Formats: sequence, structure tokens, C-alpha cells
Amino acid sequence: MPGKESSVFESLEQVPPDAIIGIMALFRADDSENKVDLSVGVYQDDSGKTPVLECVRRAEREILEAQSTKTYVGITGNAGFNAGMQELIFGDHAVVKDQRVATVQTPGGSGGLCVAGHLLHRARANARVHLSDPSWPNHSPLLKLAGLHLEEYPYYDYREHGIDFEAMVHAVERIHAGDVLLLHGCCHNPCGADLSKEQWHVLAELCLRRRIVPFIDLAYQGLSEGIVEDAYGVRLMAEHVPELVVVASCSKNFGLYRERVGAVSIVAEDAATRDAVLSNLARVARGLYSMPPDHGAAIVDRVLHDEKLRALWEDEVEAIRARINGLRTLFVGKLAKRGSPRDFSFIEHERGMFSFLGISKAQVIRLREEFHVYMVESSRINLAGINASNVDYVADSIVAVLES
Ligand code: LMR
Repeated sequence: MPGKESSVFESLEQVPPDAIIGIMALFRADDSENKVDLSVGVYQDDSGKTPVLECVRRAEREILEAQSTKTYVGITGNAGFNAGMQELIFGDHAVVKDQRVATVQTPGGSGGLCVAGHLLHRARANARVHLSDPSWPNHSPLLKLAGLHLEEYPYYDYREHGIDFEAMVHAVERIHAGDVLLLHGCCHNPCGADLSKEQWHVLAELCLRRRIVPFIDLAYQGLSEGIVEDAYGVRLMAEHVPELVVVASCSKNFGLYRERVGAVSIVAEDAATRDAVLSNLARVARGLYSMPPDHGAAIVDRVLHDEKLRALWEDEVEAIRARINGLRTLFVGKLAKRGSPRDFSFIEHERGMFSFLGISKAQVIRLREEFHVYMVESSRINLAGINASNVDYVADSIVAVLES
């Protein structure tokens, strides 16, 4: 037996489970009939199921019938998908017509963040990425793995239940030229408090003046106000600033979670720079995972480019959006009716899947252990986990925890 000093992995210590996926695992292991999952950001319908969208089913059938090979597609993925995503994100914006956008298919939005992070590090190793406080818990580890330095700017005011825009602008004013400002395109994860159009304008002007590069995470396009409406911030930035990073995910708006479909788009100053960026994106992707998985992107390509499937998809996204927004009203009303000692009306005005309840970690744990109601320990809830048959139970459980 070799000596201990030759052990490579002994230096590793156990790390805690992921803040979100860890809760999902606890939920799955719970055999209570009353259990309710408000943790991971996955859409559920009124029966608590995460459905395969009908447009996806149809596209999938057509693809499987027509497919004659499983040979490699390529490092940058499906060209039709990439073009479709550019159109979805930027519309008919001049940056697309002027060939200033390089888009590469990635394994989910996380894969896109990862590729974008490595590209930024390759382009400017000492650039700092500024994240909102709070942000999606995986932003930080993922971008750190790419070698980037991270900073935080104030965003959510937990007492006022809204954006502290003054503090945010104050912090952004101090960001160095060439640094990167990570913004949530819509449906802020975890707080649900989105930037208004006026605030996007202020930030666009600031980024231009201070030569800050906006990096927009667009993981929920279509789930806030509409497919086009939710791209407002991205399109505005594309109009104002010379360089922009956008990462999109098809997990939520196409329900393609496990297929891992996303894209990274870089808007460059001109077409020549865009070509160089594209070659570097390909180099980064090849080094990280070689090529993205095909199936989900092929589905999105088909849905976006077939008139009937696209219309069906738009209707399905609208139904998801309407249901989530309706659940916000229902949930807030129920909490009040069940005698909540706290006012939760702010939840009604937030957008996307998430809001913070604003309760303590101890109360979150009580909800989980006594009532089998699961949420992230920050008290982030996924509104889409609420339905007609559990809303009273969830509201009663929260009221019980608040009262004792
Ligand atoms: C979430 O925030 O719950 C989702 O984006 C899923 C994930 O991977 O964290």
C-alpha cells in the first residue's frame, strides 16, 4: 500500500449540498403526502406536474422521425438554433443585421454563463464581474471557476421589498471601465424585483459613459410580461453600448430543463471583432466540453422556425406566465385571509417564478421539518409550486410559523 502522502483526494473536505438542488433532493426523499416543493425553479402546473410543452412534443416527434444520423453537429452547435435565439433575444435589431452578434449554443444557461465567463477571462483576465446582492447562488461559483474576480452591488432592499436603485446606481458609478455588470434581464432570481424601463435607461447611459460591459442573464424570457417585452433591457443595452454579453436559457420558457439548452451571445463593436469573438467562443467551448448536446436545441430550432409550432409555443408561454402571475394574487390573498400577521402584498408586484418571503432561516427550516413545505433557505419561494389544492395548506403553514 502506498503511503498516505500519495493520496490525491484526501485533501478534499466534504462540501455542503447545493443551496437549491440540495433542497430538491431533501424534498424527493420526504414521503409525506402533504409535501410541497417551492424550492427549485421549475414550472409546475395546477396538478403539481412539470409538463412537456405540446409544441416540444410535436417538434420532438418530427425530429426523431426525420433523423438519420447521430454524428457530431459542431462546436458552436445548431446554426438554425443560434439564428433563432438571436432573433428571439434581439428581434430585428441593427446589431444582428450589422453582423455584430456572435451566438453559440451551450449546455443550458449555466453552460452559457460558463463559456461567457471563460471568454471574459481570456479577453481581460483582471476584469471584475459585479453581481447583484442577492443573485442566483450559482453565479458566483460558476464565474469564479472561470477565474474571474467578483464584486457585489446593492440591489434588493429586504425591508422595503424592492430595488434600492439609488444605492445600486451609486455603486455602479464606481465600477471601473472595462469591468462587467451582471444584470438579470427579467424575473430576477432570487427576489423577483425587476428593473423598470426608466431604470434600464439610467443603467444603459451609465454603462456607456463609464465603459462598463453589461452581462445580462436572460433565463426567463417570456415569464414576466411577454416574450418581446422581457427582452426590453437587452435590446436597449444593445442600442446604447458597444459591447454586451447575453446568456439565454431555454430551460424555463421551453420547459427543456434536462435537455440542457442555452446560448451565449456577444455583441461586439464591429463585424471583424465579432468574428474574432466567435472563434474564441468556439475555442473555449471546445476546451470545456467539446460540443453541446443536440436534441433540445434541435427542438427549439424547429419550434421557432415552424409557423404553427411557434404560435403554439407563444400560447403555451403565455399560459405559464398568466398562471404564475395569477398565483401571486391568489397566494397573497390567501395569506391575508388566513390571518397572516404580515403583509405579503409586495409578492403580487414581483415577477417570474421567485419572491422572498422574508422569513428567518429557522422559520424556513420549521416549515420544511414540521410542515413539509420546502423552499430555499434564503426564504426564496417558487410561486409555480403553489396550486389550488395546496395553497390553503401552504398559507396556513406560513401563518403558523409566523405566529409562534
Ligand atoms: C433555480 O434557481 O432554482 C433554477 O435556476 C435551477 C438551478 O439550477 O438553480
